[in-house]
Amino acid sequence: MKIRLDKYLADMNCGTRSGLKKEIRGGNVTVNGTPVKSPEIKIDTETDKVVFRGQPVVYERYEYYMLNKPAGAVSATSDRHEQTVTELIRDSKRDDLFPVGRLDKDTEGLLLITNNGELSHRLLSPRKHVDKIYFARIDGRVTQEDVDSFARGLDIGDEKKTLPADLHICTSDGISEVMLTIREGRFHQVKRMFQAVGKKVIYLKRLQMGSLCLDESLKPGEYRRLTEEEVEKLCSQERKP
Ligand code: URA
Repeated sequence: MKIRLDKYLADMNCGTRSGLKKEIRGGNVTVNGTPVKSPEIKIDTETDKVVFRGQPVVYERYEYYMLNKPAGAVSATSDRHEQTVTELIRDSKRDDLFPVGRLDKDTEGLLLITNNGELSHRLLSPRKHVDKIYFARIDGRVTQEDVDSFARGLDIGDEKKTLPADLHICTSDGISEVMLTIREGRFHQVKRMFQAVGKKVIYLKRLQMGSLCLDESLKPGEYRRLTEEEVEKLCSQERKP
Protein backbone atom coordinates (compact mmCIF):
# COMPACT_ATOMS: atom_id res chain seq x y z
CA MET A 1 0.00 0.00 0.00
CA LYS A 2 1.27 3.51 -0.82
CA ILE A 3 0.41 6.55 1.29
CA ARG A 4 1.70 10.07 1.81
CA LEU A 5 4.60 10.47 4.21
CA ASP A 6 2.72 12.83 6.56
CA LYS A 7 -0.24 10.45 6.73
CA TYR A 8 2.09 7.50 7.33
CA LEU A 9 3.55 9.27 10.36
CA ALA A 10 0.18 10.58 11.59
CA ASP A 11 -1.34 7.09 11.36
CA MET A 12 1.50 5.84 13.53
CA ASN A 13 0.74 8.49 16.16
CA CYS A 14 3.90 10.59 15.57
CA GLY A 15 1.93 13.86 15.69
CA THR A 16 -0.71 15.90 13.91
CA ARG A 17 -0.65 16.24 10.13
CA SER A 18 0.23 19.96 10.35
CA GLY A 19 2.93 19.40 12.99
CA LEU A 20 4.40 16.56 10.96
CA LYS A 21 4.55 18.65 7.80
CA LYS A 22 6.80 21.06 9.73
CA GLU A 23 8.90 18.18 11.08
CA ILE A 24 9.36 16.79 7.56
CA ARG A 25 10.26 20.19 6.09
CA GLY A 26 12.64 20.70 9.01
CA GLY A 27 14.62 17.60 7.97
CA ASN A 28 13.61 15.30 10.85
CA VAL A 29 12.51 12.42 8.64
CA THR A 30 14.50 10.05 6.45
CA VAL A 31 13.19 7.50 3.99
CA ASN A 32 15.53 4.63 3.15
CA GLY A 33 18.37 6.63 4.71
CA THR A 34 17.80 9.82 2.72
CA PRO A 35 16.38 13.00 4.32
CA VAL A 36 13.07 13.82 2.70
CA LYS A 37 11.49 17.26 2.89
CA SER A 38 8.18 16.86 1.10
CA PRO A 39 5.24 15.60 3.17
CA GLU A 40 3.38 14.48 0.07
CA ILE A 41 5.85 11.88 -1.20
CA LYS A 42 4.37 8.41 -1.41
CA ILE A 43 5.67 5.74 0.93
CA ASP A 44 5.38 2.02 0.26
CA THR A 45 4.23 0.76 3.66
CA GLU A 46 5.65 -2.71 2.98
CA THR A 47 9.16 -1.89 1.82
CA ASP A 48 10.20 1.70 2.65
CA LYS A 49 12.14 2.37 5.87
CA VAL A 50 10.93 5.54 7.57
CA VAL A 51 12.88 7.11 10.44
CA PHE A 52 11.42 9.97 12.48
CA ARG A 53 13.75 11.89 14.80
CA GLY A 54 16.17 8.98 14.75
CA GLN A 55 13.52 6.33 15.53
CA PRO A 56 12.34 3.77 12.95
CA VAL A 57 8.59 3.94 12.40
CA VAL A 58 7.11 0.67 11.19
CA TYR A 59 3.71 0.94 9.58
CA GLU A 60 0.91 -1.05 11.13
CA ARG A 61 -1.79 -1.43 8.53
CA TYR A 62 -4.56 -2.43 10.88
CA GLU A 63 -5.47 -1.45 14.40
CA TYR A 64 -7.82 -3.42 16.62
CA TYR A 65 -9.37 -2.17 19.84
CA MET A 66 -11.76 -3.81 22.26
CA LEU A 67 -14.09 -1.18 23.69
CA ASN A 68 -16.42 -1.70 26.61
CA LYS A 69 -19.06 0.51 25.08
CA PRO A 70 -20.78 2.71 27.64
CA ALA A 71 -24.49 3.45 27.47
CA GLY A 72 -24.97 6.83 25.79
CA ALA A 73 -22.35 6.46 23.03
CA VAL A 74 -23.57 5.80 19.51
CA SER A 75 -22.10 3.10 17.26
CA ALA A 76 -21.00 5.45 14.51
CA THR A 77 -17.87 7.25 13.35
CA SER A 78 -19.39 10.73 13.45
CA ASP A 79 -22.49 12.32 14.88
CA ARG A 80 -23.51 15.96 15.22
CA HIS A 81 -24.91 15.62 18.74
CA GLU A 82 -23.90 12.35 20.37
CA GLN A 83 -20.58 10.94 21.47
CA THR A 84 -19.45 8.23 19.08
CA VAL A 85 -17.63 5.01 19.91
CA THR A 86 -14.65 5.92 17.73
CA GLU A 87 -14.19 9.20 19.63
CA LEU A 88 -13.63 7.10 22.75
CA ILE A 89 -10.46 5.58 21.20
CA ARG A 90 -8.20 8.44 22.20
CA ASP A 91 -4.82 6.78 21.57
CA SER A 92 -5.30 6.54 17.84
CA LYS A 93 -4.95 9.41 15.40
CA ARG A 94 -6.19 7.29 12.52
CA ASP A 95 -9.16 8.62 10.67
CA ASP A 96 -10.29 5.26 9.28
CA LEU A 97 -11.40 3.41 12.43
CA PHE A 98 -14.99 2.16 12.62
CA PRO A 99 -17.07 -0.11 14.84
CA VAL A 100 -17.71 -3.67 13.68
CA GLY A 101 -21.50 -3.71 13.75
CA ARG A 102 -23.74 -1.74 16.03
CA LEU A 103 -24.86 -1.80 19.59
CA ASP A 104 -27.87 0.33 20.52
CA LYS A 105 -27.19 3.61 22.29
CA ASP A 106 -28.31 2.14 25.62
CA THR A 107 -26.43 -1.18 25.18
CA GLU A 108 -23.07 -1.71 26.89
CA GLY A 109 -20.25 -4.10 26.31
CA LEU A 110 -17.99 -5.58 23.71
CA LEU A 111 -17.46 -3.59 20.55
CA LEU A 112 -14.58 -4.22 18.20
CA ILE A 113 -13.14 -1.06 16.66
CA THR A 114 -10.79 -1.48 13.73
CA ASN A 115 -9.88 -0.29 10.25
CA ASN A 116 -9.84 -3.83 8.85
CA GLY A 117 -12.83 -3.80 6.53
CA GLU A 118 -12.36 -7.34 5.33
CA LEU A 119 -12.46 -8.78 8.85
CA SER A 120 -15.49 -6.67 9.67
CA HIS A 121 -17.27 -7.90 6.58
CA ARG A 122 -16.63 -11.51 7.49
CA LEU A 123 -17.68 -11.08 11.12
CA LEU A 124 -20.92 -9.41 10.10
CA SER A 125 -21.78 -11.60 7.12
CA PRO A 126 -25.23 -13.19 7.70
CA ARG A 127 -23.85 -16.39 6.15
CA LYS A 128 -21.12 -16.79 8.78
CA HIS A 129 -23.43 -17.14 11.80
CA VAL A 130 -20.86 -15.73 14.21
CA ASP A 131 -21.99 -16.28 17.81
CA LYS A 132 -22.74 -13.19 19.91
CA ILE A 133 -23.31 -13.65 23.62
CA TYR A 134 -25.31 -11.13 25.64
CA PHE A 135 -26.13 -10.67 29.28
CA ALA A 136 -29.57 -9.14 29.77
CA ARG A 137 -31.92 -8.06 32.54
CA ILE A 138 -35.54 -8.59 31.69
CA ASP A 139 -38.55 -7.01 33.30
CA GLY A 140 -40.59 -10.04 34.38
CA ARG A 141 -40.11 -13.75 34.89
CA VAL A 142 -38.31 -15.54 32.05
CA THR A 143 -39.61 -19.10 31.77
CA GLN A 144 -38.68 -22.48 30.31
CA GLU A 145 -41.35 -21.80 27.69
CA ASP A 146 -39.35 -18.74 26.61
CA VAL A 147 -36.19 -20.85 26.44
CA ASP A 148 -38.01 -23.31 24.15
CA SER A 149 -39.41 -20.52 21.97
CA PHE A 150 -35.94 -18.97 21.55
CA ALA A 151 -34.56 -22.41 20.64
CA ARG A 152 -37.23 -22.92 17.97
CA GLY A 153 -36.72 -19.44 16.46
CA LEU A 154 -39.06 -16.49 16.80
CA ASP A 155 -41.18 -14.38 14.52
CA ILE A 156 -39.94 -10.86 15.21
CA GLY A 157 -41.76 -9.28 12.29
CA ASP A 158 -39.09 -9.93 9.63
CA GLU A 159 -39.45 -12.06 6.51
CA LYS A 160 -37.80 -15.01 8.25
CA LYS A 161 -37.93 -16.35 11.78
CA THR A 162 -34.79 -15.91 13.87
CA LEU A 163 -32.28 -18.74 13.90
CA PRO A 164 -32.35 -20.96 16.99
CA ALA A 165 -30.89 -19.07 19.95
CA ASP A 166 -29.63 -20.39 23.29
CA LEU A 167 -31.33 -18.70 26.21
CA HIS A 168 -29.97 -19.49 29.63
CA ILE A 169 -31.81 -18.29 32.73
CA CYS A 170 -29.44 -17.16 35.51
CA THR A 171 -32.11 -15.81 37.87
CA SER A 172 -35.83 -15.55 37.30
CA ASP A 173 -37.97 -13.35 39.45
CA GLY A 174 -39.66 -9.94 39.19
CA ILE A 175 -36.55 -9.09 37.20
CA SER A 176 -34.77 -11.94 35.44
CA GLU A 177 -31.11 -12.20 34.43
CA VAL A 178 -30.26 -14.22 31.36
CA MET A 179 -27.46 -15.09 28.98
CA LEU A 180 -28.40 -15.27 25.32
CA THR A 181 -26.40 -16.57 22.38
CA ILE A 182 -27.57 -15.49 18.93
CA ARG A 183 -25.99 -16.17 15.56
CA GLU A 184 -27.33 -13.25 13.60
CA GLY A 185 -27.13 -9.49 13.94
CA ARG A 186 -30.53 -8.14 13.06
CA PHE A 187 -31.61 -4.64 14.04
CA HIS A 188 -32.52 -4.53 17.78
CA GLN A 189 -32.55 -8.32 17.64
CA VAL A 190 -32.34 -9.13 21.35
CA LYS A 191 -34.96 -6.55 22.31
CA ARG A 192 -37.28 -7.72 19.56
CA MET A 193 -36.88 -11.37 20.53
CA PHE A 194 -37.96 -10.63 24.07
CA GLN A 195 -40.74 -8.42 22.79
CA ALA A 196 -41.96 -11.40 20.75
CA VAL A 197 -42.49 -13.34 24.00
CA GLY A 198 -44.12 -10.32 25.67
CA LYS A 199 -41.13 -9.15 27.72
CA LYS A 200 -38.95 -6.08 27.89
CA VAL A 201 -35.16 -5.83 28.03
CA ILE A 202 -34.15 -3.31 30.68
CA TYR A 203 -30.37 -3.78 30.48
CA LEU A 204 -28.23 -5.27 27.73
CA LYS A 205 -24.52 -5.95 27.57
CA ARG A 206 -22.57 -7.87 24.93
CA LEU A 207 -19.96 -10.22 26.35
CA GLN A 208 -18.62 -12.06 23.33
CA MET A 209 -18.42 -11.94 19.56
CA GLY A 210 -16.94 -14.98 17.84
CA SER A 211 -13.76 -15.86 19.70
CA LEU A 212 -13.43 -12.39 21.22
CA CYS A 213 -14.49 -12.04 24.87
CA LEU A 214 -14.98 -8.76 26.69
CA ASP A 215 -12.11 -8.09 29.08
CA GLU A 216 -14.05 -7.61 32.29
CA SER A 217 -11.31 -5.38 33.71
CA LEU A 218 -12.43 -2.70 31.25
CA LYS A 219 -14.94 -0.34 32.79
CA PRO A 220 -17.63 1.15 30.53
CA GLY A 221 -15.89 3.65 28.24
CA GLU A 222 -12.48 1.96 28.61
CA TYR A 223 -10.69 0.13 25.83
CA ARG A 224 -7.50 -1.70 25.04
CA ARG A 225 -5.70 -2.98 21.99
CA LEU A 226 -6.36 -6.59 21.06
CA THR A 227 -3.47 -8.93 21.77
CA GLU A 228 -1.77 -10.60 18.81
CA GLU A 229 -3.35 -13.87 19.91
CA GLU A 230 -6.85 -12.36 19.93
CA VAL A 231 -6.33 -10.89 16.45
CA GLU A 232 -4.94 -14.15 15.14
CA LYS A 233 -7.85 -16.17 16.56
CA LEU A 234 -10.45 -13.77 15.26
CA CYS A 235 -8.93 -13.64 11.79
CA SER A 236 -8.34 -17.38 11.48
CA GLN A 237 -11.69 -18.39 12.95
CA GLU A 238 -13.67 -16.07 10.76
CA ARG A 239 -11.77 -17.13 7.65
CA LYS A 240 -13.36 -20.59 7.90
CA PRO A 241 -16.25 -21.14 5.47
N1 URA B 1 -29.75 -6.57 20.16
C1 URA B 1 -30.38 -5.44 20.58
O1 URA B 1 -31.60 -5.40 20.71
N2 URA B 1 -29.62 -4.36 20.83
C2 URA B 1 -28.27 -4.36 20.73
O2 URA B 1 -27.64 -3.33 21.00
C3 URA B 1 -27.64 -5.53 20.31
C4 URA B 1 -28.42 -6.63 20.03
